[in-house]
Amino acid sequence: MLVLRVAVVLALCACAASDRYHAEPPARAAAAPAPRQAELTKAYWYDEAQAAIEKRARRSAGKGKAKNIVFFLGDGMSIPTLAAARTLLGQRQGRTGEESELSFESFPSVGLSKTYCVNHQIADSACSATAYLCGVKNNYGTLGLTAAVARHDCEASLDASTHLESIAAWAIQDGRDAGVVTNTRITHASPAGLYAKAANRNWERDEQVTAANVNISSCPDIAHQLIHHYPGNEFKVILGGGRREFYPNTIRDDEDSLGRRTDDRNLVEEWFEEKRSRNATYEYLWNRSQLKDALNNPPDYILGLFEDTHIPYHAEANNETEPTLAEMTELAIKTLQRNENGFFLFVESGRIDHAHHDNYVELALDETIRLSDAVTVATELLSEEDSLIVVTADHAHVMAFNGYTQRGGSIVGRSDYTGQDGVPYMTISYANGPGARAQTDGVRVDVTAEENFGDLRWRSHAEVPLSSETHGGDDVGVFARGPHHDLFTGVYEQSQLPHLMAYAGCFGPGAHACNAAPVLANTIAFTSLLVVLLAIQRFLCL
Ligand SMILES: *[C@@H]1O[C@H](CO)[C@@H](O)[C@H](O)[C@H]1NC(C)=O
Ligand SMILES: *[C@@H]1O[C@H](CO)[C@@H](O)[C@H](O)[C@H]1NC(C)=O
Ligand SMILES: *[C@@H]1O[C@H](CO)[C@@H](O)[C@H](O)[C@H]1NC(C)=O
Ligand SMILES: *[C@@H]1O[C@H](CO)[C@@H](O)[C@H](O)[C@H]1NC(C)=O
Ligand SMILES: [Zn+2]
Repeated sequence: MLVLRVAVVLALCACAASDRYHAEPPARAAAAPAPRQAELTKAYWYDEAQAAIEKRARRSAGKGKAKNIVFFLGDGMSIPTLAAARTLLGQRQGRTGEESELSFESFPSVGLSKTYCVNHQIADSACSATAYLCGVKNNYGTLGLTAAVARHDCEASLDASTHLESIAAWAIQDGRDAGVVTNTRITHASPAGLYAKAANRNWERDEQVTAANVNISSCPDIAHQLIHHYPGNEFKVILGGGRREFYPNTIRDDEDSLGRRTDDRNLVEEWFEEKRSRNATYEYLWNRSQLKDALNNPPDYILGLFEDTHIPYHAEANNETEPTLAEMTELAIKTLQRNENGFFLFVESGRIDHAHHDNYVELALDETIRLSDAVTVATELLSEEDSLIVVTADHAHVMAFNGYTQRGGSIVGRSDYTGQDGVPYMTISYANGPGARAQTDGVRVDVTAEENFGDLRWRSHAEVPLSSETHGGDDVGVFARGPHHDLFTGVYEQSQLPHLMAYAGCFGPGAHACNAAPVLANTIAFTSLLVVLLAIQRFLCL
């Protein structure tokens, strides 16, 4: 009977396939998990919605002051990346996946940030870092300087009026501690936005400055700035990759990689000396077990450089030597939490971007899931009452989540459909990148037939051939939890982000949420005065 009905429905569908915009689905792929039976009922969706209303009603009003702020960045974490990553997360747990949720997707406030830079429609990680960390939009490829400085122009960057301060500096000036965590080189554009002023993001070590015929004493490299300049020299926690930028090219590091500095300086040693001159305790870490040990009793200052360049993708990392982003986040929070004035911490999952540039879908999604894990750690360690957590991305990518794949279809698999050419296509593909394939005899290649199809380093297909897939110009999401989370709703300039965070934390150059306090304080003062006057009057009358 049921079979008959299904057959009739299918037949009707076939006849009614008159909508030329929306194809009728083919038969379900047998391998995909079916939706839960409960989803076939009205009650399921009503209950789901009612539970959501209840949760919204119960959520924190988000008042008070953000004593602690943790700012998470998914580099290149576009909105389609979020949708696809949550689906992969659910599918890894044996479910259909689409209904799943990344940790920060349950945060009470969500907004959209506009990521263009002063001279570019589509941002790079340097101009966007300047926007979301220093609160000012500037030029593509430049860090911590206004748009009055063109890329490569060291001379122009010597004018102090072009210099910007990051929210980390604002926090330090307020007596808080600051730290930085990334899985890229610590001198890479996003983390460098927190501490460097550079007319070129590529000036990570001395040799890159001198090779550009730039005077290194005028424009020191980014690694040098981290160790010796304010505010980098004040950071209590520095965790990431990129050891090679700190060691001379005559020294092999703990993992036997050669340094790359040509000025014969050992910046790790210089960091030790600087901390000794403060009579502070300090520790240098280069592997995971050292990081785990440091959790027990963190010193005053920690410098962890876990790889000579970027830390490997989580899915490919040696788990004996490489800590996870979540573990680095835990150490950073536990170290910074000791300051009773609070702290500002920046955490970047920087390799979502790299995987997208290579059209490696599964690695990009896995790195997004690792960011979600790191956010979970922060939510567990910090109270919603006094700690603001903000999660966003610097810019989008040109990954498309496309093609009417049916529920539960593998997010890293092919669409249920084929193109008009009879050749399959992927549910996730790219507008451009190294995954572009030449056609054979005018026909697209069937990428699903490739030998390494499904490997982590299999590239999804792309339209325009480019050696590196490009960023996208779409808005990115902003997720917030904690004091004044509702500030982060709406659609706004990316450069507002540090101002909003500082407002919630009551520090930094602009308005502060706590300025509401003087009104209250005046009321209290007036009331006290009245009580005293009444008491005096009563005394005199006696
Ligand atoms: C480099 O700049 C410093 C000061 O910024 C200056 O003293 C020095 O003469 C400059 N060197 C060259 C080769 O121009
Ligand atoms: C460090 O300790 C030494 C010896 O106790 C003392 O003379 C010096 O002033 C201290 N320096 C700082 C920066 O506190
Ligand atoms: C490390 O990786 C190995 C090999 O993938 C795995 O067997 C082991 O359980 C992992 N250990 C930890 C602590 O994650
Ligand atoms: C981590 O570093 C410590 C200190 O250098 C060393 O003793 C230990 O063997 C290292 N662990 C690994 C897995 O390499
Ligand atoms: Zn990028």
